[in-house]
Amino acid sequence: MKGKPPLIDALTFAEAKAEHVRLADEIAKHDRAYYQEDAPTISDADYDALRQRYADLESAFPELVTPDSLTQTVGAAPSEKFAKIRHKVPMLSLGNVFSDEEVSEFGARVRRFLGLAKDAPLDVTAEPKIDGLSCSLRYEGGALMQAATRGDGFEGEDVTANVLTVKEIPHRLRGSVPEILEVRGEIYMTHSDFSALNERQAAIGKPLFANPRNAAAGSLRQLDSSITASRPLHFFAYAWGEVSDMPADTQLDMIAAFEAYGLPVNPLTVLCHSAEDLLKFYHGIEDRRASLGYDIDGVVYKVNSLALQERLGFVSRAPRWATAHKFPAQQAVTVLRGIDIQVGRTGALTPVARLDPVTVGGVVVSNATLHNEDEIARKDIRLGDTVIVQRAGDVIPQIVSVVLGKRPKDAEPYEFPQTCPVCGSAAIREIDSKTGTADVVRRCTGRLVCAAQAVEGLKHFVSRNALDIEGLGEKQIEQFFAEGLIKTAADIFRLEERDKHSLQRLKNREGYGETSVRNLFAAIEARRQVPVNRFIYALGIRHVGETNARRLARHFGTFEALRATAQRALEGSEARAEINNIEGIGDVVAESIADFFQEKHNESVLDALLAYVTPLPMEEIVSASPIAGKTVVFTGALERMTRDEAKAQAERLGAKVAASVSKKTDLVVAGPGAGSKLAKAQELGIETIDEETWLIRAAGAGD
Ligand code: IVH
Repeated sequence: MKGKPPLIDALTFAEAKAEHVRLADEIAKHDRAYYQEDAPTISDADYDALRQRYADLESAFPELVTPDSLTQTVGAAPSEKFAKIRHKVPMLSLGNVFSDEEVSEFGARVRRFLGLAKDAPLDVTAEPKIDGLSCSLRYEGGALMQAATRGDGFEGEDVTANVLTVKEIPHRLRGSVPEILEVRGEIYMTHSDFSALNERQAAIGKPLFANPRNAAAGSLRQLDSSITASRPLHFFAYAWGEVSDMPADTQLDMIAAFEAYGLPVNPLTVLCHSAEDLLKFYHGIEDRRASLGYDIDGVVYKVNSLALQERLGFVSRAPRWATAHKFPAQQAVTVLRGIDIQVGRTGALTPVARLDPVTVGGVVVSNATLHNEDEIARKDIRLGDTVIVQRAGDVIPQIVSVVLGKRPKDAEPYEFPQTCPVCGSAAIREIDSKTGTADVVRRCTGRLVCAAQAVEGLKHFVSRNALDIEGLGEKQIEQFFAEGLIKTAADIFRLEERDKHSLQRLKNREGYGETSVRNLFAAIEARRQVPVNRFIYALGIRHVGETNARRLARHFGTFEALRATAQRALEGSEARAEINNIEGIGDVVAESIADFFQEKHNESVLDALLAYVTPLPMEEIVSASPIAGKTVVFTGALERMTRDEAKAQAERLGAKVAASVSKKTDLVVAGPGAGSKLAKAQELGIETIDEETWLIRAAGAGD
């Protein structure tokens, strides 16, 4: 805020009136920025102060109160953002390929997984990859009931009111439609509508949108749906979620069915029979890219048969049966001004290039990743160098190479720091005990004393796929950490209690207001119960990402069971073997889990945290099945599916797949040639079935 405003008692009526008018304008401007542009330009506290001053003027001079005074009208919009909607079927993302070879590899991988011959026919659809935002539309009895954004893939925002204003999206579907039909697709803005919108924005002095995707997102995520209605948005349907009764058995026919229902679908979608067909489509679209009238960032390939899609399933968050073939990166030339070293959650020192700002494919770039010290040495990147930067899709920009002809004469080779720039501890490259080679990443050894590692760990803890605490983002964590308010994860849950007794209350601070503090405490309170897989992931154990966290949650069921085993998991112990034996978890991960739980400091941090947080049963992607929770071992040859496929299928049905037979095994699926594992199963009296029986059970379980 600029200076202190004069005391109200000292104002004349005329001065008060002038200030009242000025404040009304200013508040209205901030309301628009906040509610309509999704881009507030002042802090909540400053905003609250403006409102307070406005109200104080009216108390002192009641004549200022008129029916259209801001104190008499209801707030522009609810301050809560959108309600959350849980997706019945998760909205996943896509894997990427960039080269022609990788496209052939995609087909080869699919065939391998399905156990098909290298040259077996495989139909794959190809379609443009729209650069917009994905949206799920739920139709019941043919009527549009609900629309949600993708969000984190599991939970999105309820944007029904806004989607109802998109002209192209039918409120009612035509013909005979499944009772429940969740249509998924992309909401986007055309180039011409985007330019026209920015011209209108410029004419009324509003900020411009960076690109059509931001404009589409900003328009859809409006609290006032009349604003969405005024922005021309379009939609292409390309996928689905829950469907009560599938109208077709191929990708192409599903899209044809959508079209028959009256939904917009992309007319460029084609069916291909070979990798050559796919590449021909890709290069054809690449040539037409500029004249399509909307932004695309590549093409998407999808296995056409839905039966095969089902068999292929998903790995982590992306389907095995589809991939995106992205357009190549765009490049530009600029100058490297500095190299900053960032310290991550696991102590990794990451060099970041500071560049003279340059536009690369429509986006201004001023930072680029330099990966690690070997990369800098290999490319011999020096301060002051003229460099080529490139950007592909949403990937962080990279430095491709140095323009040697423009190197300043006095430029010295870059010396990578040997100590942590944050805590000063030695930074080392760990030597792999098996291979004897040094890790490419240099890490700070200061673990518990390093503030950077602590802060990054906290940011990870509250991040979207971890505890997902709204209103507690990276910025706030940094601020609270710097002030000593949050030092460990448990402190987050003590924030409200402490605040009550603090002289410097949060609500009185720059950047906060009564409402934002209330919302923050509510968001923290809401996370006192979280699915155990999220909780495990949130701990930031090295090598334990979302997939491994799910594996651990699935295997152990409860956090206490994991903890008890991991604490005993010394090298060579039975407990270590149990962790190691979980499918997908190898020596390195098992060791890192054991290390984490055996570390004394982590013990006390966990105890403190568990006093506040209750891990709930895991959030399963699949509903419970009779196979769920069972430990299955596959042994011998499988004839109807590959080993990978069998594993994936079992996991999809909620089973744990183990590599060896033990007392904990519930079921052994044995094919021809099964040997010692089968013998052991029989010795232990474990149920043993053949592949055929397994397939029948699996089919039943999936219903
Ligand atoms: S299919 C399970 N098809 O790309 C697969 N996605 O990078 C569902 N996207 O989140 C996605 N055009 O928002 C598919 N023709 C298309 C697409 C498309 C754009 C987006 C979508 C997805 C993202 C993944």
